[in-house]
Amino acid sequence: MRQSFSLAIAALATTAKAVSLADLCTVSNVQAALPSNGTIAGISFLSSSVTATAVYNASTAGTSSFRKRTTYSYCNVTATYTHTGQGDSVVVWYGFPDPSIFESRFLVVGGGGYSLSSGVTGGLAYGAVTGCTDAGYDAFTNSLDEVVLNANGSLNWYNIEMFSYRALGEMAVIGKAMTKSLYSIDKVYTYFSGCSDGGRQGMSQVQRWPDVYDAVAAGAPAFRQSHQQITHLFPAVVEVTQGYVPPPCALEKIVNSTIAACDPLDGRTDGVVSRTDLCQLNFNLSSIIGESYYCSAENSTSLGFGFSKRAQTSGSSSSYTPAQNGTVNAQDVEIAKTVYGGLFNSDGERAYIAWQIASELSDAEGTYNSTTGSWTYTIESTGGVFVTKFIEQIDEDNLSTLDGVTYDDLVDFMATALPKFNTTLQTTYLNISEFQANGGKLLHYHGESDPSIPAASSVHYLDAVRTFMYPGESYNASFAALSDWYKFFLIPGAAHCGTNTLQPGPWPTDLVQTIIDWVENAVEPTTLASTISSGTNAGETQNLCEWPLRPLWQGNSSTFDCVYDQASIDAWTYTFTAINETVN
Ligand SMILES: *[C@@H]1O[C@H](CO)[C@@H](O)[C@H](O)[C@H]1NC(C)=O
Ligand SMILES: *[C@@H]1O[C@H](CO)[C@@H](O)[C@H](O)[C@H]1NC(C)=O
Ligand SMILES: *[C@@H]1O[C@H](CO)[C@@H](O)[C@H](O)[C@H]1NC(C)=O
Ligand SMILES: *[C@@H]1O[C@H](CO)[C@@H](O)[C@H](O)[C@H]1NC(C)=O
Ligand SMILES: *[C@@H]1O[C@H](CO)[C@@H](O)[C@H](O)[C@H]1NC(C)=O
Ligand SMILES: *[C@@H]1O[C@H](CO)[C@@H](O)[C@H](O)[C@H]1NC(C)=O
Ligand SMILES: *[C@@H]1O[C@H](CO)[C@@H](O)[C@H](O)[C@H]1NC(C)=O
Ligand SMILES: *[C@@H]1O[C@H](CO)[C@@H](O)[C@H](O)[C@H]1NC(C)=O
Ligand SMILES: *[C@@H]1O[C@H](CO)[C@@H](O)[C@H](O)[C@H]1NC(C)=O
Ligand SMILES: *[C@@H]1O[C@H](CO)[C@@H](O)[C@H](O)[C@H]1NC(C)=O
Ligand SMILES: *[C@@H]1O[C@H](CO)[C@@H](O)[C@H](O)[C@H]1NC(C)=O
Ligand SMILES: *[C@@H]1O[C@H](CO)[C@@H](O)[C@H](O)[C@H]1NC(C)=O
Repeated sequence: MRQSFSLAIAALATTAKAVSLADLCTVSNVQAALPSNGTIAGISFLSSSVTATAVYNASTAGTSSFRKRTTYSYCNVTATYTHTGQGDSVVVWYGFPDPSIFESRFLVVGGGGYSLSSGVTGGLAYGAVTGCTDAGYDAFTNSLDEVVLNANGSLNWYNIEMFSYRALGEMAVIGKAMTKSLYSIDKVYTYFSGCSDGGRQGMSQVQRWPDVYDAVAAGAPAFRQSHQQITHLFPAVVEVTQGYVPPPCALEKIVNSTIAACDPLDGRTDGVVSRTDLCQLNFNLSSIIGESYYCSAENSTSLGFGFSKRAQTSGSSSSYTPAQNGTVNAQDVEIAKTVYGGLFNSDGERAYIAWQIASELSDAEGTYNSTTGSWTYTIESTGGVFVTKFIEQIDEDNLSTLDGVTYDDLVDFMATALPKFNTTLQTTYLNISEFQANGGKLLHYHGESDPSIPAASSVHYLDAVRTFMYPGESYNASFAALSDWYKFFLIPGAAHCGTNTLQPGPWPTDLVQTIIDWVENAVEPTTLASTISSGTNAGETQNLCEWPLRPLWQGNSSTFDCVYDQASIDAWTYTFTAINETVN
């Protein structure tokens, strides 16, 4: 109903103006569509900066399962604005679809690591304008960690704020105004889709720009940065503390054996642990002790997994790992147990959570030293650069050592970073009632076996929002109310923002289409349509359970039921008492 209405408007506008892409895509048209100076708070346009070029039959990476078209034509536009009095200059870049394929939509795509997105074709498959921004610090080239410090060692708060939430919101507000003007329409359905830091970026828009987006799909958000980034260092500190670095093959074996043991607990043996909560409650990792493992020798080239682009380009290195042939011992299992257990301070107070059991133990994997013939801990630069640049404000891309670093030191890092970045990178504001009041929809999802951002991190935020916004209401009543506009889905077996080579499970079929249907066609995603793309069940469709319901195959059913299981919910619920601050 609503879709046909919007299509009718678009069709009317198109017919009325009978515009071709060539007609639409002129510098003077785009200049005329720029918001006038002062109409958007503090923003002035340098209209001489406008570029507009029609691009015909471009192939795009952005695909939609519902639209089989593979090439698109669009108007490629850039413009520059300044914040009055700040002397800055911010480049915004948009792709305006050929009017014949435009469906009155605007899409913002999330970036990843410390980068924003840089491309304008992601929305074309959905008939949407796409926009991105250089955030005033040439974000098309620089990642935030490269520009976070001023030369004198102070933090560059302009860059931090622009990256954290502001640049994307301004870009969307400007882009929507231009879209309305260029296509002569009144309503632009506006969407955000991103995962990892892109998921954090989506959450930042919900929290900071509550009247801009109709719906946001936010996956595995890298929010609560104080805790998230330090957690990348936690496994190495476990190894330092326990004085032992396991052979990576032993950890791999522990993960494989855990998957094999816990796979059937959800009622179906399919290679996927769809219930890590049941695994946590019922499986004893110690039972793996004594199992043998073997991994062949390998020369691998690493492109670097860091947030730092410099580390990624110059850090590309080949490393040699010898054949590993052994038996899982008690020390190996103790490392795995401690890592999955999460960080506690020396008083036994919980500081944070870690990855779900059955997730890969990526951040615990050591590096082989051919000189000594032994394994040393690896410092994940995601956590390393957060300590050096963001906390200690030293211009280094990584920590040089974790020798002597304790659990209490990690807790101190978290306690320092939390207030410091509380209003910027942290991105855990709980009061998102304005977004709700404006009719906003939030689709939040997380791979249950994510080895980078713990899935329980998402559950914690969801619960904090629920109790903040529905105080005094029962668990079920508050979830029922929340679910009208904020839904959370765990993706069984999935890894970080994608499928998992160790567990051939489902992945959402088309997240953007799902939120479009929710907004424009009132198709509420009470379950999340997902598809299995590998393994023996390749091609199977699964309609994933909305949290707090959990999947369970019962009897000989070919599909799972979505069940309520209090013990499982409790296994996902944590309070953090090690720091005297509320950790949202
Ligand atoms: C808008 O402000 C910019 C920057 O101050 C200025 O260069 C431009 O001429 C102004 N545009 C108009 C139409 O006044
Ligand atoms: C784009 O593709 C269409 C359909 O194949 C074709 O008719 C048209 O000439 C192409 N346009 C350009 C500029 O290549
Ligand atoms: C679109 O414009 C940007 C900025 O001018 C330019 O870098 C890019 O190459 C253009 N893309 C195409 C496909 O022309
Ligand atoms: C450090 O540099 C920044 C950016 O140039 C400047 O704004 C700030 O005042 C400087 N701080 C000190 C203590 O010199
Ligand atoms: C773990 O399982 C994967 C996927 O089945 C396999 O490729 C790998 O060799 C296994 N590793 C160990 C140590 O058993
Ligand atoms: C796990 O297994 C070990 C070794 O068999 C045993 O000592 C330990 O008590 C078990 N833990 C639990 C919680 O059952
Ligand atoms: C690794 O590279 C070294 C040096 O090039 C070579 O001698 C060795 O055979 C390679 N090992 C494997 C397992 O590929
Ligand atoms: C691993 O070690 C065991 C015991 O020493 C040996 O029997 C086996 O052949 C070894 N496996 C490989 C693949 O080298
Ligand atoms: C390997 O160990 C030796 C001896 O402790 C040390 O000097 C060297 O720096 C280590 N190499 C790497 C790459 O860590
Ligand atoms: C810093 O981080 C990179 C990428 O994570 C890693 O390869 C490197 O070994 C780290 N440096 C140290 C000193 O551990
Ligand atoms: C973080 O910000 C929130 C919301 O403004 C505030 O309630 C909270 O006290 C702040 N926490 C810290 C540690 O600064
Ligand atoms: C937290 O607050 C309590 C009570 O005010 C105090 O006893 C405790 O030392 C504080 N802990 C930390 C880590 O600051």
